Amino acid sequence: MRVVGIGGTLRAGSSSERLGRAVLAACEVRGASVRMFDGPHLAQLPHFDPAMPDRSPAEAELVEAVRTADALVIASPGYHGGVSGLVKNAIDLLEDLRGDARPYFDGRPVGLIVSAAGWQAGGVTLAALRGIVHAMRGWPTPIGLAVNSIEQKPFDAEGNLAETGISAAVEAMADQLMQGVRPGA
Ligand SMILES: Cc1cc2nc3c(=O)[nH]c(=O)nc-3n(C[C@H](O)[C@H](O)[C@H](O)COP(=O)(O)O)c2cc1C
Repeated sequence: MRVVGIGGTLRAGSSSERLGRAVLAACEVRGASVRMFDGPHLAQLPHFDPAMPDRSPAEAELVEAVRTADALVIASPGYHGGVSGLVKNAIDLLEDLRGDARPYFDGRPVGLIVSAAGWQAGGVTLAALRGIVHAMRGWPTPIGLAVNSIEQKPFDAEGNLAETGISAAVEAMADQLMQGVRPGA
């Protein structure tokens, strides 16, 4: 089982990236092979142009990984009340999967994570990601994770998950991702 993560920011120590990696690590413990496309990778992607068929190695790698994934994790910061441009540009590139036998995220579970400095941006950005996944034929896991990066400190100095509620949500999301895979889908 392959789980692919997309997300994070270009900020050193990006909390959205770390939360995405935490869910991937929990999936790995459950037997999945995992791959994270983090902020620096996403920053290599040119602005998506529907009229331009050529793909850079960084673009082709992301498209192929999502094509062959059994489950996905998307982690965005709340930027100005929504999904960051960096993350959305990567999602838009997945238009390349439109003509596949299994288009976009078809039939696959997608875990959604938001880190924002306020609860309002966390909630609306998580809802926006759910809308995106529905548009792309995926199944958002029932557990979504919106972390308030001002009021909550998900990680300790060693980089381990430090808040019980967030750890429980990460584990539950990994369970739902692994349970949501339909063999042969
Ligand atoms: C350009 C920009 C816009 C932001 N807009 C919002 C916002 O509208 N609401 C909010 O709560 N936080 C906002 N933030 C704060 C980030 O969502 C918050 O710091 C988040 O935890 C950053 O994620 P990261 O740790 O992965 O970089 C913004 C930050 C930046 C840099």
